[in-house]
Order: sequence, then C-alpha cells, then structure tokens
Amino acid sequence: MAQDKTTAKKVEATGLMGWIDARFPLTSNIKNHLTEYYAPKNFNFWYFFGSLAMLILVLQIATGIFLTMHYKPDAELAFASVEYIMRDVFGGNIIRYMHSTGASMFFVVVYLHMFRGVIYGSYKNPRELIWLFGVAIFLCLMGEAFFGYLLPWGQMSYWGAQVIVNLFATIPLIGPDISEWLRGDYLVSDATLNRFFAFHVIALPLVLLGLVAAHIIALHEVGSNNPDGVEIKQNKDKKTGIPLDGIPFHPYYTVKDLVGVVVFLIVFVVIICFAPEMGGYFLEANNFIPADSLKTPAHIAPVWYFTPYYSILRAVPPVMNSQFPGVAAMGLSVMIFALLPWLDKSPVKSIRYRGRLYKRWLAAFVVSFLVLGYLGTVPSNVWGHFGAWMGGADRATVIARIFTVVYFAFFILMPWYTAKDKTLPVPDRVVG
Ligand code: HEM
Repeated sequence: MAQDKTTAKKVEATGLMGWIDARFPLTSNIKNHLTEYYAPKNFNFWYFFGSLAMLILVLQIATGIFLTMHYKPDAELAFASVEYIMRDVFGGNIIRYMHSTGASMFFVVVYLHMFRGVIYGSYKNPRELIWLFGVAIFLCLMGEAFFGYLLPWGQMSYWGAQVIVNLFATIPLIGPDISEWLRGDYLVSDATLNRFFAFHVIALPLVLLGLVAAHIIALHEVGSNNPDGVEIKQNKDKKTGIPLDGIPFHPYYTVKDLVGVVVFLIVFVVIICFAPEMGGYFLEANNFIPADSLKTPAHIAPVWYFTPYYSILRAVPPVMNSQFPGVAAMGLSVMIFALLPWLDKSPVKSIRYRGRLYKRWLAAFVVSFLVLGYLGTVPSNVWGHFGAWMGGADRATVIARIFTVVYFAFFILMPWYTAKDKTLPVPDRVVG
C-alpha cells in the first residue's frame, strides 16, 4: 500500500498532472470534491435537481451570450431586434426558445429542488447556510427573470415592469423615490430598458454565479443530507475514516446525474420543438405585440413562476387606500423561506420519520401554493361573485384569501406543530 502511494507520487511528479499540481491544486481538488467526496448511497429521484439547476444556469449563460450578439437594448429597436433574431439570425429562433424555455425550466427545477430540501429537512442543522445561500439564489433568480422579461419590449414586458416597479412606490415615505430610481425615469422608458439590460446580462449573473459557488462550498463542508435524514459522517470506517453509508461522488453520482441530464434534455428539446410558448405560460401572446405606453392590456399577469406571490399581493386588501400591506405580504411570502431552519422544531429531518400533523400541514401548503399559482394566472373575478349572503364578494379573491392564510400558517404555526408531532425513531444507518 505504502509502495503504491510512492509510485503514484512519482507518476504525478513527472506527468502533466504533476506539473499542474506543483502550480495549482488540481488533483487535490478532484479528490476532495469528486473521487474522494463521499455522498450518501441512497440518493433518489429528488437529488437530480441540483445538478440540473447547474446545467440550466450554464445553458442560460451560453444562450444569453448569443442573444446579446444580436439584441439591441434600445426602446426603438429592442422589439424588432428580437424579431430579427427569430426570423433572420441563423439558429436564432432555437437560441431564443432555449433561453425562454430555459427560464421556465429553471424555476420548475429550482422549485422541485427546494421541495426536496423541505421534505428531507435539508435546511436543518448543520445545513442552514446551504439553505440561506439557496434562498439568496432564489431571490436573485427572480430578479434575473424579472429584468430579462422587459428586454423583448412587448406589451406584457412593458406593463409587467410598470406594475412591479409601481409596487415599490407603495412603501411609505421612501417608496416613490425608490421606484423612480429603479426606472431611471418617471415612467418605464429607454432608460429603464438600458439599466434592466445591464442588470440582466452582467450584474445578476455574476451575483448568481458567486452564490452558487458559495452554495456548493457550504454543501461540501458539511456533506449532503439524504432521504433518511441520517448524518452519514457519524458512522465512519475505523481504518479508512470513510463514512460507511458513503460512496465516491465520482463515478457513482456523475453517472447517475448524467441519466437526469439526458431525460431533462429530451423534455427540453420536445418543448422547444413542439410547444415553446407552452400555451402562453412560457411566452405570452401579448408579448408578441410591441410595447405601447398608451394602451394598457386588459389582463396583466406575471409569468407562471411568480403567480403564487402575485395572488397573495391581490388577496390582501388595501388599508387606508394603501396597497402596501399586499406588497409587504408578497415580499414576506418569499423571504419567509429563509426562516425554515429556525421554525422547524422537529427532532427528525426526513418526512419518512415525521408524524401525521406535519404531513397534513405540508400537504395544505402544497395545495395552497398550487391554487394561488393558478389564481394568479387568471383575472381576479374569474369565478364570478358570491350571493348576497357573502356581501356579493368576488369568489376567486375570497378563495385566494383563504389559501393565503393557509400559506402563512404553514410557516407561522410550524414551531408548534413540529414540536407536537409524533415522530418515528430514526435509524442509525441509511435504509434506502
Ligand atoms: C441556481 C440555482 C441552484 C443551483 C445550481 C443549486 C445547486 C445545488 C447542488 C448541485 C446541490 C447538491 C446536489 C443536490 O443535493 O441536489 C444542492 C444542494 C442543496 N441545495 Fe441547491 N441549488 C440551487 C438553488 C437552491 C435553492 C433556491 C435552494 C433553497 C432555497 C437550495 C437549497 C439546497 C439545499 C438545502 C441543498 C442540500 C440538499 C441535501 O443535502 O439534501 N438550492 N444545490
């Protein structure tokens, strides 16, 4: 064994790797993060989404670079430059559809990735920082999607930005100044387009890359959680120090992740070829009409991935003619995810060992998220009005209010129901 090590050293010292290693810690990094990074052996379907999120990040940056080569960030030219990309640039339509589909798929993948974190309690000690970096990534991703959406300068780009920037104006005292500062003008204009372009193509992608690096560094410091929520580092082989339930990330999980990549790419290509607009969910019909500051569309709605929060905004009634409570509730509905590590008092991590109480609350949360998501895509009076017994209230708004309460109750009552829940004993070793 000792001889093997010496031989290996000799080979490294003389080969190309040896040359590099003397100048850059390549081999030690490959070992620490791939071949000798031990991940739990029981990763399942839910563990595909981290690597897929990384793949989409790369795809978005790559397609974004090509789009930037032909796009014009000028209110007079932006819409036409996107049409030019779609019709005249070689492969331009594919690149644009990859980027627009990639945006929606990013959110599909990140929502599933976050849900995995929730069901397996991956945010709990010692992974709070991985989670907090994740929440920061999520906020950054929302900003990135919002800024990017203005760039095609279609009707929905324009009016969507108008609505969202105006929301900041509801903040007491400093609000109007903030929204003017964001727009760079008194209304959404060329100045707004220019700065949103700068945020979208350079500022936020840089922050996003930094945050993803921090996310992975934090993950590799403490090691991955797993579907059983068992800490594999607590059971190590006495001789080698390798966790008994751990397997090297490479080749085992690089190969497993490749399966996820192939399945994802098949779905991605099918969407791009057959349903790139996804019936208006990925690209809305109104956005194929150039922005017109004199013509407000009848129904302004954000893209599907923002609709649960948009529903919460609409559900909260104004107080003393101020929309601020709705805006604050909407902000809180996203930020509250950051508190999960401290709200969850359960002694177990994984849903496998939690009791009925927690599972019912989680189910109620998922239903409320989906219902609010749906309601945010339709006009607020979609289901008509209740009769006189309810004061003729708008049905969809009443339902949105009920589910907004459920949404927040999931978080606010969590310290109570997770402490009260009857959990099952967690095994010492992973089960499967
Ligand atoms: C660009 C977006 C993101 C990328 C590229 C990314 C990447 C990754 C990767 C590669 C892993 C390890 C593999 C895996 O466990 O699936 C991971 C783990 C994790 N991520 Fe993310 N992530 C992103 C966003 C988020 C967000 C938004 C959250 C939560 C708010 C989050 C929370 C977590 C947690 C808690 C883990 C540890 C999971 C465990 O060990 O069970 N991530 N992430």
